[in-house]
Amino acid sequence: MFRRIIKTIWGWIDDRLGLSAQIIPMLTHRVPPDARWWYVFGSATLAAFLIQVITGVILSFSYVAAAGEAFNALIYITKDAPFGRFLRGMHYFGASAMVLMIGIHALQVFWFGAYKFPRELNWITGVMLLGLTVGMGFTGQLLRWDQTAIWSVVVGAEQAGRAPLAGSWIARFILGGGNVGGATLSRFFAIHGFVLPALLFAIIGAHLQLVLRNGISEPPRPGSVVDPKTYRQKYEERIEKTGTPFWPDSAWRDVVFAAAMIGGVVLCAWGIGPPVLGRPPDPSIVHADPRPDWYLIWYFSVLALLPPGTENLFMIFAPLLAGAGLLLLPLLFPHGERHFSRRPAGVAGVVMLLVMVGSLWRSGMDSAWVPDLTAAPISKEIVASDDPLVQRGAQLFSSKGCISCHRIGPGGGQRGPDLTDVGDRLTRDQITIRILNGATNMPPYADILKPDELDALVRFLVSRQVHGSLLYDPSLPAQK
Ligand code: HEC
Repeated sequence: MFRRIIKTIWGWIDDRLGLSAQIIPMLTHRVPPDARWWYVFGSATLAAFLIQVITGVILSFSYVAAAGEAFNALIYITKDAPFGRFLRGMHYFGASAMVLMIGIHALQVFWFGAYKFPRELNWITGVMLLGLTVGMGFTGQLLRWDQTAIWSVVVGAEQAGRAPLAGSWIARFILGGGNVGGATLSRFFAIHGFVLPALLFAIIGAHLQLVLRNGISEPPRPGSVVDPKTYRQKYEERIEKTGTPFWPDSAWRDVVFAAAMIGGVVLCAWGIGPPVLGRPPDPSIVHADPRPDWYLIWYFSVLALLPPGTENLFMIFAPLLAGAGLLLLPLLFPHGERHFSRRPAGVAGVVMLLVMVGSLWRSGMDSAWVPDLTAAPISKEIVASDDPLVQRGAQLFSSKGCISCHRIGPGGGQRGPDLTDVGDRLTRDQITIRILNGATNMPPYADILKPDELDALVRFLVSRQVHGSLLYDPSLPAQK
């Protein structure tokens, strides 16, 4: 009796939804038998995305996207909310896992030449998903709403601001105004929580549909050439003869790998925990630290290492070219050999990319161009003046964060010019104008410094002349 009721209900649902007519055949469709461990990274990316959706939705219950509240909300989530610290950790390491998996997935697909006919659109939707994933990382950083988070975004907006014609408009659009503030946070929250996820869901759907429609690619063999006239037919015949059902013969590897990856994220979230919250954002302390999360840091190295004149051009055109190149790749090379031993240019491209990103990444990790937040205050010997105003200026030079970008004597950051004897180079007015207006890579201080503070700073910098710095002995040990 009971079983009959269940059976009737199931029959009703199954008939209306078409589960056994559509979903089950989808799960058990035949795939090439030799599609082994190389093929697990796509499903692992999907698993990481699901972690992000689940943890993101739960975090959004307690997060407050308002400039005055966000930092406190994060403190509350981390310290008091049940499992809050763990959830933030999961969301942070889940993001890293997703970037890592999508990167490996893309490399593997490229290496196997699987972007060729008939899977061009699989590749193109994949490139879109890659872009959206990076966009999620970039917008997510700001929601952390501490000094570091804000500065990464300011630098991003500054870069966009240098684009020809539309630059300042784009920068204003990103920031929601002329400066990072409450409007920026609301905007990023909406983009991070609604716009990009909606696009991700839609394009992931299309991507999966394309995988079903075009079949999983068979591992390439040297000499077997992709010819659009015969490819589909050959593929069907091969699958007919040797294919195995996706579920469970092939999918168990996806399940095992995804479970291991999730296990890794859980361990990191539990053991290491979420990124420590820096200082709450306070625009009066411009402690610039535009150090983005790890997967973007290599790009910041590129910008820092380029000769100053080329920076603008590069920043705008390199990402455009790279994006266009990736999108067009399958349309430019849809046929021919798929095996890497017959695609020397493709192999050279991958090796170059890995070496380049790897070394840039390294230089980004220990780079002089990242503002040095640990720079010690300027010592008395180096100030070398009895004028209390000059001494106050020297203090402000550290407390307002100038020193994290500028050297004076032996200590300080190297993002901006050395100011040890700036008094010889610039007049009082030039220095004042520079501080008030900022410059490329230097924030404007007009709204931040009080008149007497500005006065003291300028007095201090004007005093930085060779005769004033005679007391500075270059053989002194560095202050760091
Ligand atoms: C984020 C890093 C950063 C911070 C913080 C910063 N600066 Fe700068 N500063 C720069 C850069 C980069 C330049 C060079 C800009 C250019 O030439 O386009 C510069 C240029 C200058 C110059 C002109 C130097 C010259 O030789 O032309 C002065 C003076 C100066 N900064 C003073 C200050 C003072 C005072 C503060 C703190 C109130 C400060 N800066 C904070 C990055 C910074």
